Amino acid sequence: MRNRIRGTIVVALALALAGPASAAIDAAVVVRMRQANFDRLLSLHKSIRNELRQARPNGAGVSRAVLAEAQLAQQIVAWFPAGSGPDARVRTDARRGIWAEPRDFQAKAVALNGALGQLDAAARSGDPGRMRAQQRAVADACESCHETYLSRF
Ligand code: HEC
Repeated sequence: MRNRIRGTIVVALALALAGPASAAIDAAVVVRMRQANFDRLLSLHKSIRNELRQARPNGAGVSRAVLAEAQLAQQIVAWFPAGSGPDARVRTDARRGIWAEPRDFQAKAVALNGALGQLDAAARSGDPGRMRAQQRAVADACESCHETYLSRF
């Protein structure tokens, strides 16, 4: 029994290590997961926007939400493995350019992470004007990627 389990694990590992060319990814699962992650990004983004409508926004609260956003945002590129685009016959709003122009797509993800870093610095300063300006820069970074790579933009 134990040997059988071990054998199964070895086979599973071998499949996992076989690499993207031969490992069949379940594109539908990948797409659902990344859309759920983007929905979470949006809800964090909105919670910060609401906080910044207050006369005296809570900088520590903003900083915590920014950290959660950044933890997601730094994974964006990994949410788009080869084979999870529109050719996979899944319900995705991702454009083919993501895989055709990976460097540009990556640069836009990096830009978002940079803007989130600046927003965190602003939140730590406690200056509401600075926080609001940086929150707009984050929104611009989201939009700049969507303009090019989201089909329903
Ligand atoms: C580097 C590119 C990129 C950046 C930056 C980016 N997005 Fe997106 N976003 C996408 C792509 C591509 C999709 C389409 C995913 C799909 O349908 O497979 C998407 C989809 C979404 C969706 C729809 C998810 C769903 O349920 O279908 C939301 C909401 C979203 N993004 C919010 C954001 C927010 C908020 C930010 C900024 C904090 C952001 N995105 C930054 C590329 C990006």
